[in-house]
Amino acid sequence: MEENKLSITNAYIHSMAYYLPKKVLTNEELNRDFPEWSEEKIFKKTGIKVRHIADETETVAELSYEAGKLLLEKNKMDPSEIDFIILCTQSPDYFLPTTACLVQEKLGVSKNCGAVDVNQGCSGFIYALTLGKSLINAGTAKNVLLFMADTYTKHINKLDKSTRTIFGDGASAVLLKGGAPDVRIGEFVLRTDGKGADNLIKPAGGMKIPYSQEALEDKVDKFGNVRKAVDLYMNGPKIFEFAMENVPILVGEILEKNNMKFEEIDHFVLHQANKYMLVKLQRQMKIPSEKFCINMENVGNTVSATIPIALEIAENQKEIKKGDKILIAGFGVGYSWGGTIITL
Ligand SMILES: CC(C)(COP(=O)(O)OP(=O)(O)OC[C@H]1O[C@@H](n2cnc3c(N)ncnc32)[C@H](O)[C@@H]1OP(=O)(O)O)[C@@H](O)C(=O)NCCC(=O)NCCS
Repeated sequence: MEENKLSITNAYIHSMAYYLPKKVLTNEELNRDFPEWSEEKIFKKTGIKVRHIADETETVAELSYEAGKLLLEKNKMDPSEIDFIILCTQSPDYFLPTTACLVQEKLGVSKNCGAVDVNQGCSGFIYALTLGKSLINAGTAKNVLLFMADTYTKHINKLDKSTRTIFGDGASAVLLKGGAPDVRIGEFVLRTDGKGADNLIKPAGGMKIPYSQEALEDKVDKFGNVRKAVDLYMNGPKIFEFAMENVPILVGEILEKNNMKFEEIDHFVLHQANKYMLVKLQRQMKIPSEKFCINMENVGNTVSATIPIALEIAENQKEIKKGDKILIAGFGVGYSWGGTIITL
């Protein structure tokens, strides 16, 4: 009886798809806007050549719909089979209703479906995955569709080179099912420290500092970056410090919680924040290059979507094989961080 329950409910990642807007922003264009940063310098600092930029009509609901459609087509799956949608974003179409409700309708998923938004950024895939796994393992849902989707570039001032060089838009869709014969989504380590809230923030436009004439005024910081209070602000060095201090500890805790040794991991897929920082983390943790995934050169930092996008690229390039043990870890805005070990 117990065994039977486990076989129905044991959650696993069934398949993934992602969608990127057609419009791109290259380092050449950035150099034209910011002549003090050469193309080479931008690449060296970020590891990014191309970011994808959502146009006015491409909202998170639209991008999620495209990713979801690809995923359903790939699996020849009827939308009515989905019984729960979790959509993770920090650039929703509206404050309300939730973007998950919009996507349910657009994708043609039946009304017999739960749908919620999760407001989480760089750790978003980890949080969506832990919630989806819990729904399946509790027997609440059978087919959970996760969306990690963001259009951060809509939060960014065109004259702020500190953020424009790093972030790109995109959506990933991940289907979770139950019934895996073995554990394919391991134990989670989840961490939070709201003291870091001010280091990656869109200060105005919410309820605390509403839209106002003042919030819409351009201000120049000491580095010459221009921002309004309603635009995204990132303290790059502080985020860097936070990641360098906490990610290696996190990785150790994930291994310990899953009773695994460092050498047993086949791939480390961390949040693709920027290559510069990833390489420093890799070196600090002494992760061999062939086990360390960096797939962001032609994508950019797509916030909550980076891990599933990097996983899918690696899977498509046959770098990741069925049965490989993959340690995933997200970290950033919040501060929020966490991770687990998965098998695709
Ligand atoms: C943004 C980041 C790459 C800047 O690196 P840094 O070494 O801290 O940069 P500094 O601000 O001290 O500047 C060092 C040099 O790099 C340059 N630089 C900084 N960011 C750059 C960029 N995106 N492109 C090109 N050059 C950049 C600076 O102008 C400076 O140049 P100089 O030496 O000629 O004066 C780094 O702080 C970082 O990785 N932060 C994490 C941010 C992040 O990934 N956020 C995503 C959310 S998780």
